[in-house]
Amino acid sequence: MLDQLHVIEKEATEKIQACQDLKTLNDLRVLYLGKKGPIQEVMKKMKELDKEERAKVGQVSNQVKQEITKLIESKKEVLEQKAIEDQIASETIDISLPAYQLPTGTIHPLSRVIEELEDLFIGMGYDIAEGPEVEEDYYNFELLNVPKGHPARDMQDTFYIDENNLLRSQTSPVQARVMLKAKGEGPIKIICPGKTYRRDDDDATHSHQFMQIEGLVVDRHITMGDLKGTLELFARKMFGQKRQIRFRPSYFPFTEPSVEVDISCHNCDGKGCAMCKHTGWIEALGAGMVNPHVLEMCGFDPQEYQGFAFGIGVERVAMLKYGIDNIRSFYTDDLRFLEQFTRKDDE
Ligand code: DAH
Repeated sequence: MLDQLHVIEKEATEKIQACQDLKTLNDLRVLYLGKKGPIQEVMKKMKELDKEERAKVGQVSNQVKQEITKLIESKKEVLEQKAIEDQIASETIDISLPAYQLPTGTIHPLSRVIEELEDLFIGMGYDIAEGPEVEEDYYNFELLNVPKGHPARDMQDTFYIDENNLLRSQTSPVQARVMLKAKGEGPIKIICPGKTYRRDDDDATHSHQFMQIEGLVVDRHITMGDLKGTLELFARKMFGQKRQIRFRPSYFPFTEPSVEVDISCHNCDGKGCAMCKHTGWIEALGAGMVNPHVLEMCGFDPQEYQGFAFGIGVERVAMLKYGIDNIRSFYTDDLRFLEQFTRKDDE
């Protein structure tokens, strides 16, 4: 029996030493030290021995058990340490690998034009105003001097929702809303960027939905000189410091006098090119002095107050500035187009 125990010890020692992983080591522990293990088998047979031999075998089997336990414990430490080292080795970072590129978005060219103009006008003390896109006929037309049946309604093909409601065909109704809210007390200095809608067939220069930036200033002693100076700053901010502007007489029902504003061509410096149709000037926006009748309808005394207003087509400005020849490019969400307007341009 003692020989048997020594064989068991030898065999267990060899197996423990050869063992390479914690799972196998645990299996060996269960095998040799568990209730059904070979040492236990030997011990079961001890009762057949006489007293002296029994004591001896009992002592040796305990020693063998302790020896195996010790071996397993120290092997376990070695294997655990090795497992940690393996994990560290497999998780080291290879700093020579190329970095993962995080895709960054770009600012939409229309948003960029709006942001630049908001910056300019906020810097001159203007507030940003807002109004609803589903608008009442009353604000979109009537308060702007275009009563029902007036021929000037033909200037804008409008989406009517019902007799009194429509999708606003211009941002000008915000002028009326802001003036009414001010209850006859100036000064007012606002711009209003926003979406507008017209029943136009879409083509390279028309879109049924587009964007405008409305401007309105109402105060005492406001002249057309103020309007001209303001729009000159606009032209230079968007198209370069050398730009000149000129006014041509025009007609809008809510301004009197009304003007069409041209900007000297930024493409040829006014010399004449295809972009300016060889005139040196580019038609840019509509503007004028607020019609006294509109001031009155919106609660201001035209004897005391004057105002100027302008309406900028955001798509038109963006198309001229970036040389875009199709208005639909703004609305088709084509990444090949949008990615050209990188944030780098902002720097
Ligand atoms: N609302 C006009 C349009 O959509 C543009 C415009 C012209 C606005 C003259 C103005 C203005 O405020 O004074 O055609």
